[in-house]
Amino acid sequence: MIFYFSGCGNSRFVAESIAKELDERLLFIPEEERNGNFDYELGNGERLGFVFPIYSWCPPQLVLDFVKKLHFDRQPSYVWMAVTCGDNGGYADRVFRQQLEEIGLPLQADFCFQMPNTYVNMAGMSIDKPEKAARKIENAKAHLPTVIQSITERKSASEMRRGIFPRFKTNVIGKSFHKWVSDEPFFSTDACISCGKCVKVCPLQNITLENGRPKWHDHCTTCDACYHHCPQHAIQYGKATKGKGQYRFPNAE
Ligand SMILES: Cc1cc2nc3c(=O)[nH]c(=O)nc-3n(C[C@H](O)[C@H](O)[C@H](O)COP(=O)(O)O)c2cc1C
Ligand code: SF4
Ligand code: SF4
Repeated sequence: MIFYFSGCGNSRFVAESIAKELDERLLFIPEEERNGNFDYELGNGERLGFVFPIYSWCPPQLVLDFVKKLHFDRQPSYVWMAVTCGDNGGYADRVFRQQLEEIGLPLQADFCFQMPNTYVNMAGMSIDKPEKAARKIENAKAHLPTVIQSITERKSASEMRRGIFPRFKTNVIGKSFHKWVSDEPFFSTDACISCGKCVKVCPLQNITLENGRPKWHDHCTTCDACYHHCPQHAIQYGKATKGKGQYRFPNAE
């Protein structure tokens, strides 16, 4: 069984690739949360995996909040996590490990895929140049068989790319990040054609169309799916996104 979260398709690609190869059940965390599904039955010897992007050197808060509520009828035979990140994840694995331990699950392996950056909501943070993004995707694809092999063999692994000052980034910046996440700066420009794509792609159902224009409803994780998927590039985040490009995993809905 694999639980995953993804805004712009990187983590979805990783989760789907692993699930397909290993014939695992694949569950999208926001959907499970919306449906109030927190109790699961595991088959004999079944593995349990989690795939999500790194947000501010931590797991996304919505992933942690979901895990807190999880309950299984038996212990999984192996527990693993795989993250996607633009650069590095600090001590995000430790935060996730601790959360799992609180519900009685030991984490055996953490895998890490460096993927194109999606975070554009701050000055100085932007998407990768196309060549760099393509290279990261190729490397991630090349890394998949090793990860799948490790999961098949239930191997332990510790792959997190920590970067510099991981303790500070995770514990000081990361752990408070979700408190100042806000969708207030989002707005649409006159380029908007009322297509509704932003409404459709928001994993948290945080957007409605009002008079043909998107309205954000203060339940946002700044995954930036709305920004990156708009066919008119009509969504902006205050002044932070001015002049920045869009990225989503190739062929991502
Ligand atoms: C809110 C937010 C915070 C992010 N923080 C980090 C970070 O701390 N370190 C990093 O390497 N990448 C960071 N990223 C980049 C994403 O982790 C990366 O692009 C990921 O592959 C996106 O996954 P997705 O396409 O499944 O949404 C961040 C992205 C977002 C949207
Ligand atoms: S995706 Fe873009 S063009 Fe379509 S409704 Fe949303 S803001 Fe408007
Ligand atoms: S409103 Fe946009 S940034 Fe916020 S959760 Fe929805 S798609 Fe992601």
